[in-house]
Amino acid sequence: MIRNYIAIGCLYLVVLGSCKPGQKETESTQQSDVMSTPSTKPFGATTDGQAVTEYTLTNKNGISMSVINYGGIITKLTAPDRNGKLEDIVLGYDSLAGYIKETPYFGAIVGRYGNRIANGKFTLDGQIYSLAQNNNGQSLHGGVKGFDKVFWNIEKAADNKLRLTYLSKDLEEGYPGNLNVEVTYELTDDNELKIAYTATTDKKTVVNITQHSYFNLTGNVKRDILDHEVTLYADQFIPVNNVLIPTGQIKDVTGTPFDFRKPTAIGLRTNDKDQQLEFGRGYDHCWVLSSKDSVKHAASVYEPSSGRTLDVYTTEPGIQFYAGNFLDGSLTGKQGVVYKHRFGLCLETEHFPDSPNQKNFPSTELKPGEVYKTYTTYKFGVR
Ligand code: GLA
Repeated sequence: MIRNYIAIGCLYLVVLGSCKPGQKETESTQQSDVMSTPSTKPFGATTDGQAVTEYTLTNKNGISMSVINYGGIITKLTAPDRNGKLEDIVLGYDSLAGYIKETPYFGAIVGRYGNRIANGKFTLDGQIYSLAQNNNGQSLHGGVKGFDKVFWNIEKAADNKLRLTYLSKDLEEGYPGNLNVEVTYELTDDNELKIAYTATTDKKTVVNITQHSYFNLTGNVKRDILDHEVTLYADQFIPVNNVLIPTGQIKDVTGTPFDFRKPTAIGLRTNDKDQQLEFGRGYDHCWVLSSKDSVKHAASVYEPSSGRTLDVYTTEPGIQFYAGNFLDGSLTGKQGVVYKHRFGLCLETEHFPDSPNQKNFPSTELKPGEVYKTYTTYKFGVR
């Protein structure tokens, strides 16, 4: 099936007012001038001596976002509360060592296949491909060394816009095809983080790239996310088995704790007696976005004490809402904050989990000559 990402992408840019045909983006990086945007600073080095750099974008409202070239990780993102106080709204570590030692994908780009592939196996054109079984016998988030643990080349694409590129070689983590990947992060003056994902391959493969930031809108992570009120613009979700692989069904949310069509505090039903909640230890599921538009409003989040809001828009058909159920207090993050149970939430826009093995789900296949192109916007506001 041909996936017409380019047309959708251009339409999206027109909607958001930045598609200028023929516009050529500047290729230059300005690493030496700290007053330019992005500003850069060293962020340590890996054990084998590879230096890591942190790039910081700042918009006209003072919102700033920092990104490192290891994993394309968003290390920091500030947003104002209803009194204008800027605080960090994402989980992560103060230094590289934390990210290298242990991270549940804090802030990272996730790929080649975000989410799970059953038994780490799929078949393309009669050929069976085997991936690392790094999660209860399943393959999760691209394998042992996914896009979250590789070095990305970063350059300035435009003011307040970074272009990250990476070549995932043929059979890296078991996936066929040399995959050229480009991710752009743009921080707009309308307080949006706009992300565009592009990929091309020289052999048929599967692709499902997403972003794994953990949000906590209380600011500087004051408590868990159970009071955050979430809206998901989805009439259906994807039930899973006990190892979080889709059963193949697509289920109506009506009458279930998965009905987030009206703003609902996460804590209200997350501990309900429900088999799906037991399997996920709470919310860790993919919702099927209802809109048929190419750019869909996927989710809204409101945090009552700070007044902060987050809205997610995407060209993807689904959104994984993961409420930090696996955080257990064993990781200490930025500013010495211990990340306890449900201290962050992820809104991972994506194709559905295990699509390569689920014939009824939209295809994640990418062929030579096609361009994978998806867009997601996270918009920050207050109420
Ligand atoms: C995803 C998965 C979760 C969990 C986290 C990382 O969002 O859906 O089950 O694995 O990543 O801890």
